[in-house]
Amino acid sequence: MTSYASVRPLLFRLEAERVHRRAVRFADLAGAALATAARAGLEIPPPTSPRLERRLLGLTFPNPIGLAAGFDKNAIAPHAWGWFGFGFAELGTVTGEAQSGNPPPRLFRLAEDRAIVNRLGFNNDGAERVAARLVRSLRARPRTPIGLNIGASRSRMGDPEAELADYRESARRLGRLADYLAINVSSPNTPGLRDLQAPDRLGRLVGEVRREVSLLGLGVSAPRVLVKLSPDLDAGAVGEICAAALEAGAAGFIATNTTLSREGCRSPQAGEAGGLSGEPLRPAADRMIARIRGVVGRDVPIIGVGGVARIEHVLDKLAAGADLVSLYTGLVYEGPFLPKRLARALDGEIERRGVGSVADLVGDGSTEAAELRATAR
Ligand SMILES: Cc1cc2nc3c(=O)[nH]c(=O)nc-3n(C[C@H](O)[C@H](O)[C@H](O)COP(=O)(O)O)c2cc1C
Repeated sequence: MTSYASVRPLLFRLEAERVHRRAVRFADLAGAALATAARAGLEIPPPTSPRLERRLLGLTFPNPIGLAAGFDKNAIAPHAWGWFGFGFAELGTVTGEAQSGNPPPRLFRLAEDRAIVNRLGFNNDGAERVAARLVRSLRARPRTPIGLNIGASRSRMGDPEAELADYRESARRLGRLADYLAINVSSPNTPGLRDLQAPDRLGRLVGEVRREVSLLGLGVSAPRVLVKLSPDLDAGAVGEICAAALEAGAAGFIATNTTLSREGCRSPQAGEAGGLSGEPLRPAADRMIARIRGVVGRDVPIIGVGGVARIEHVLDKLAAGADLVSLYTGLVYEGPFLPKRLARALDGEIERRGVGSVADLVGDGSTEAAELRATAR
């Protein structure tokens, strides 16, 4: 921890996107070596224990701390993330077409707020190239489940049929490579994308993606389909949205994506347009998790994400109703081995509390106390 704290000021003097590109390149190199080792049966596993392991979505998660979407958009390093300590990694967002995203600068650190604003706009290599890359790298599958997050290409937005076709194309190309698929309808940087959260449109989208996956003929190993939601949804709309997604066959939810709100921000960079992540997002994300858990009941998996940088944050998300917890911005502020530290701390916490496993820490959505603590912290 000390060592990352000492290099962080140097990294923060460099342009944010450049540092990110280097981090992914480093993960790529580490991942290539780790993939070779895995083929020889020498995989370095992430922290795990019977207390940390979770079985959900037809998968086994060695621990419940995951890499959130956006860090490895092009699925460069699927074998690296377990080594950093992650129990799963969600790669993407991948769109049907390759696209360069918005013009730079488009990534901003809000250091005083331990937050980031990004308006990258789904810069990615497109489903075809990402699939080809994954076919090569996943010849040996890592122990950490790999989720693939899919979104709509900008050029297809505005035409509802073209938008659906774009998601279908990504599902067709990536479905057999994914342990789960995440439908992203919540990034604020593609105009119109969030409108796909409207219950009727979301139901149709989930149904079509599921149909596409079933056409792959993968049987029981077909990836389950999750929906990633925005923290900015009207509280009153959440029930109907979740019901529509579940009825169409969604297996779970990811809450949340970045927010358009700037509540709690002091940094001058807060004025930049884009989605906010990190510490100021955390209370809203926790409230959304609790809300979703409250409407879907205990049995629907939820991945909680937003502002996780300490073990207390993980415990709050679990208490609010998350089964698994993922993070992105915490890596920027706490360094690459944050997931390893969190997984070990969680294991210690489960032992200390004398409960059987991480599943016993998951709340049922009525945990108002978790919400209040989160807001106060
Ligand atoms: C630079 C950046 C890029 C992101 N790109 C994506 C993306 O492509 N798809 C997506 O679903 N979420 C994306 N996210 C959102 C994260 O997955 C996550 O939902 C959000 O940042 C909240 O978690 P955090 O506070 O731990 O970062 C991105 C976040 C950041 C900071």
